[in-house]
Amino acid sequence: MRTSSTTGGATDAPRLIDLFPATAVVDGGELHLGGMRATTLAEAFGTPLVVYCRETILARAHAYARVDPDALVVYGTKAFPNIALMRLLAAEGLGADVSTRGELEFALRAGVPGDRLVFHGNNKSDEELRAAAAAGAFVVLDALDEAARARAAGVQTVLVRVTPGIEAETHRAIRTAHAESKFGLVAGDAVAAVREALAAGLDVAGLHVHIGSQLTRAAESLLAVERLVDVAMRCREELGWSPRVFDLGGGLAVRHSLADTVPDAEEFARELLLRLRRHWHEPAQAIFEPGRSLVGQAGFTLYRIGVVKRTAGVAYAAIDGGMSDNPRPQLYGSRYEALLANRADEPSSGAYRIAGKHCESGDVLIDSVELPEPRRGDLLAVPATGAYTLAMASNYNGVPRPAAVLVADGEAELIRRRESLDDLLSAEPSNQG
Ligand code: LLP
Repeated sequence: MRTSSTTGGATDAPRLIDLFPATAVVDGGELHLGGMRATTLAEAFGTPLVVYCRETILARAHAYARVDPDALVVYGTKAFPNIALMRLLAAEGLGADVSTRGELEFALRAGVPGDRLVFHGNNKSDEELRAAAAAGAFVVLDALDEAARARAAGVQTVLVRVTPGIEAETHRAIRTAHAESKFGLVAGDAVAAVREALAAGLDVAGLHVHIGSQLTRAAESLLAVERLVDVAMRCREELGWSPRVFDLGGGLAVRHSLADTVPDAEEFARELLLRLRRHWHEPAQAIFEPGRSLVGQAGFTLYRIGVVKRTAGVAYAAIDGGMSDNPRPQLYGSRYEALLANRADEPSSGAYRIAGKHCESGDVLIDSVELPEPRRGDLLAVPATGAYTLAMASNYNGVPRPAAVLVADGEAELIRRRESLDDLLSAEPSNQG
């Protein structure tokens, strides 16, 4: 399979710019995106700032759409719930995979139609089931008692989530299909859930599998497709029921660092589909649920450098954000790269540790990155932060969450404003203003 990594010899050296969105270029020593200078964006919107490239998001959406015009592609909203981005995707025919009442609200306000909504969750509340029913979403059953609860909530159409007992090759916190997973139902229980859902009078459209996230190869996902088909065959034999939908989940990785190799999204999805067609010969629609692979590489974060200092053996550059806007290094040991957006063509003067501004020593965004000698006021650009950064951001240490902009053709649209101090205090009844 072709990969998007460039790991060849000296003439084909990995280039940092390849980790950025498609329209990123260095011109006159400065990083530009979508025809805009990074320095202009930072001045206009402040820092930290998450900058999204419209063209990259659309290119990824089109890549998935090309795999099969009859497939439904639903955006994994958890990667970055945002109305503007979801409207953009909805206009291209994509739907949304949501896992809470809150994520459903983003999808509804973005105008995603009910027949393009998939509602997940390992512990859905009755309120969530009612909201999913009112929206007309596919509800993915994740427990044996959920068919009856879904029926009582007015749900019409369901999928059943299968846990195929596969260890995805990724961080253990984001594997979801191993035998001990809290998600889904092992094969025998999945068949029982289909039986109960049919008995409850639900329209059981099909089966679902999602084995994990930040997947850097297809092997385990292909095995999961085969296991899903095994469950479908058991259902056909034991219940006389056949799925008309196979939801193959999401999970494809993006490159955060030059060392990462990642399958091409279109080829990854096509391989899964081919595997499905090879093993299941009745007509069936495929659903894909990409999150990170749609928006991850499309976004990067701009920080302003403040303190630069040397300790015994380590040169630190401190940024005006950190674990509150990107907790992934702490949660998953994720490795990022960076460049100085305002001096992007200067040679490296050594390795620097990028520290956040939070009150703990573990608040390190990048353990070691080669940079030109950083100075107070420089702009640090960290690529591939479009997924699961703002989505998991917090107000730790009373830090307001950053803004996000969508850039295209020399224009930037604010798609999420920076939080204010009033936002921080707004949930406190004793706040006197
Ligand atoms: N479908 C289901 C059922 C999921 O649970 C997820 C992600 C997706 C689709 C989308 O997966 P993606 O294509 O984005 O990998 N916070 C973690 C990732 C958690 C993923 C949760 N589920 C991280 O920062 O790596």
